[in-house]
Parts: sequence; structure tokens; C-alpha cells
Amino acid sequence: FNVPAVRNEPVKNYAPGSPERDLLKKALEEARSRTIEIPQYIGSQEIYSQNKRAISPPHDHQHLLGYFHEGSAEDVRLAVDAAIEARKSWAVLNWEQRAAIFLKAADLIAGPYRAEINAATMLGQSKNAYQAEIDSACEIIDFLRLNVNFMRDIYSQQPLSSDGIWNRMEYRPLEGFVFAITPFNFTAIAGNLPAAPALMGNVVIWKPAFTQVYSANVIMKVFKEAGLPDGVINMVLADGPVAGDVIFKHPDFAGIHFTGSTKVFQTIWKTIGENIAAYKSFPRIVGETGGKDFVLAHKSADPKALATGLVRGAFEYQGQKCSAASRAYIPSNLWEEVKKLMLADLEEIKMGGVEDFSNFVNAVIDERAFDKITGYISKAKESDDTEFVAGGDFDKSKGYFVQPTIIRALKTDYVTLCEEIFGPVLTIYVYDDNEFEKIIPIIDSTSPYALTGAIFATDRYAIQYASEHLVNAAGNFYINDKPTGAVVGQQPFGGARASGTNDKAGSVLNLLRWVSPRAIKETL
Ligand code: SER
Repeated sequence: FNVPAVRNEPVKNYAPGSPERDLLKKALEEARSRTIEIPQYIGSQEIYSQNKRAISPPHDHQHLLGYFHEGSAEDVRLAVDAAIEARKSWAVLNWEQRAAIFLKAADLIAGPYRAEINAATMLGQSKNAYQAEIDSACEIIDFLRLNVNFMRDIYSQQPLSSDGIWNRMEYRPLEGFVFAITPFNFTAIAGNLPAAPALMGNVVIWKPAFTQVYSANVIMKVFKEAGLPDGVINMVLADGPVAGDVIFKHPDFAGIHFTGSTKVFQTIWKTIGENIAAYKSFPRIVGETGGKDFVLAHKSADPKALATGLVRGAFEYQGQKCSAASRAYIPSNLWEEVKKLMLADLEEIKMGGVEDFSNFVNAVIDERAFDKITGYISKAKESDDTEFVAGGDFDKSKGYFVQPTIIRALKTDYVTLCEEIFGPVLTIYVYDDNEFEKIIPIIDSTSPYALTGAIFATDRYAIQYASEHLVNAAGNFYINDKPTGAVVGQQPFGGARASGTNDKAGSVLNLLRWVSPRAIKETL
């Protein structure tokens, strides 16, 4: 069970004059100067359809980056057939053979593909260079390399034997295929959701979000170049319900690896339930869904650390991380100072296209998101239950730009304290600094989600009290840090309640969902 030693991939900083900055700038220019055609990858084939959809940068929606070729139900059927065929030789491969492919893919992303994958994430998803580096290069590399280590740990867990008896456990793949559905916001999730089950010997149908296809295509190219056999991961570009209609009725459907909205996951779960008798096995259902992630400050908190945590947690990647700080509870003694510090930080923040590396905030993903986010902002501007603290402007003439916005809600059940917005909107509730213990049950109950949360305090009693009383409110809990930016292998990621099945991406717990073990007893 020897695998290469691993550490988290060091993050490059793209400082002016650095070679990585020059390479990335070149990759961006090249990508902007051509229009590409992205096919579906099904078995050994690249499938081009009559149904082409344009891809544009969200921050520059009149610029054409290329097209992707939308798939049909028939394409999804072909993909399932290709996966089942590929399973015959993939599921029986020794783990070392599978591991070598994904380790090679990690090396390709760390080296020759780093600029291309970052540029694709920046242009296709409007993510700045630093955020792209973390999420599309480093985090995918970490998932791929660390998962090999976690797989080794799983395989080495073996039962006891006794005199004359040799017991062993075989960690076989599921009998069938896995469906991976990935969201626009993290290219790393696009890398991990199909790759994790495949590493464990499964075959996969992968459906990236239409707003993610541009970077997903680079991942697929990397997997192929790393030697992934045809049909092990098939990338279909069909609309969700079209793909679902084929997949969820298929007897070989064996599991779903999902990241996306709570509502879609609930629909998928129901559909699986309705079809349950049609399947050979009970499918594994693994999902990471929404969040309404909180920051709670105690009166003993360091105001500077709190203000920085709030601005970064709420506005990095335009608040479009499922982990983003979107509601904060600030004690009255700190409010004026924290407000001043946040406003000073926001003064420094620039908004614009990703091509200018000094822009911290870029565009939100598409017009639908823009309309939803700005709807909340417009209502909050007119409400008697709010005070506007910062931002509130938006403009979609060139790209879908929404200014980082801070709203102070005067009631604990104001809508933007309760509902997931998925944009650069932070809502603050200022509580009486003597009522720390009273605000905690409110935090626990105003949202159905339980993904991430943070406590800022220097008082250890307050830290312990919040940790204990918010025990079910967040799958990832941060003490004196923003609630975003979990690092693979360091903070295994996932939440419970309406936030998902809490199977902790990038950990042994996740990989265990993709095996169907056989226990063997041999009498010697
Ligand atoms: N893992 C990401 C974060 O922690 C969210 O998917 O921000």
C-alpha cells in the first residue's frame, strides 16, 4: 500500500513580474482570441450536435468564447452504454493502475495545464486569478492526490483473522454506474465529483452545469491525456431533466455524486425513490447543496479580524461559494468600529473583468443570478426593516456586475437573513452585546441549512458555548476565521440539514460511499 507522499499544492500568487503571471496572461489572451467548439465525450467519441449554445464571459457577455454542443436523451443512453462497457475492464483493474492515472492528471494540472485551466475558470466563470488558482488548480490537484491516499487508507482497513481462518475485505466498486452533477462555482468540484467514484473503480456519467462547461472541457482533456480509458468518465451536456429521465430509470444506476441546489437535490431524491424498485442495488445518494452560512461575533472579538473575515467571507467570488458568509450577528459594542473597518476595506476593492488582476470582484454567473440577487437588494432598499450600509448598485450592460452590498436588518427574521441569495450580499444583525446566549438559538433556527459557520471571540467561554450550542448548525465550523476556503485534507468539507448528506468531500468518508465491500472468510 505504498503511495507517493503528499502535501497540499502550494498556491502561486501571480505577483507582477512573476513567470506564472506571464503564462496566465498569455493563456487568457489566447482563449479570448479564438472560439472553441466543445463536444460531449462519450466512450471513445467526441459528439458534436446541431444544438449549439454560445459561451461568453459573465463579465463581458457580448464576447464569444465558443460553443458547446448540447446533448439529447439518446446521447445520455449512449453514455450509459459506454460506461457499462468500460466497467468490464475498469472495475477489475488493480488500484495502482487507477491511482497512477489520477496522479498523472494531478501532475498535468500542476504543470502544463495550470494556466489553461485557470484561464478557463477565470473567463468562463468570472473568477479572479487568485480565486481560480485556489479552486481550479490547487484544489483539484489536492483532491486527486489526497484521494489516492484516502483510498490506500480504506484498502488497508482489514478484519481480524484467527487460527485457521483468514478473513479479508474487498472494497469493490458499486455494481452499475455513478451519475456526477457539478455546479458552476468550483472547478475543483467538477474535477472531484466524477474522479472520486472513478478512482474507486466506478464508471461515471458526468453532467457539468452549462455555466461550467468551458473549464469542465479542460478537465476532460486532462483526464484523457493522463490515460483514463474511454467510457470511464463520460461528459454529457444534456439539460438536467433530459439526462435525469434516462439515468434515474436505468437498472444499473448505482449512485449520485451531486453538488447544486437543495431544491434540485430534493427532486432527484424523490425521483430515485419513485424508481427504487427498478434498480439492481440501492443507489448511493451523496449531495452537497445550499447554505446560509453565519458569522457570530462575541463582544470580545478582535474587530479587525472580524471585519476582514466578513469582507473576504462574503465577497470573494462575488459571494457565490456555498460556504460564503451571508449573515452576521455583531454585538452592539463592536458594530460602529466593524462597520468603519468594513467600509474602509470596501473602498479599496475594485470591481471589473478578470483580465485586470487588480479587480477583486468580478461578475455574477449569469442574468438569472443577477436578477435574483438584485431583486433582494431592491426590496431591501425599500424596506422599513433594513438600513443600507454599503453597495447596492448593479449594472448588466457589459457584464453581470453587482456591487458588494451590506444590509443591516432590524429584525432577526428579515428575508435576507433567512434565504440563500448566492451573491455578494451580506446581511448583518446587531444584537445587544449582553445577549450573546440569546442570539444563538436564533442563529440555529432562522435557516434550514447547516453548511458553514464561524465564531469570532477571544473569550474562551464564548467560543466553547457557541461551539456546543451550534453543534448541528454547521458541518464546517471556524473559530476566528472566515467560513470559506476549506483546504482538502485539512478541513474535510460538507454540511447537514438542508445543506446535504455531509459526506465530506476530499476524505475517507466520501470515498467509502463509492465502494460495495465484500467480506471474505477462508478456512485454511
Ligand atoms: N470548499 C469550498 C469552501 O470551503 C466550498 O465548496 O469554500
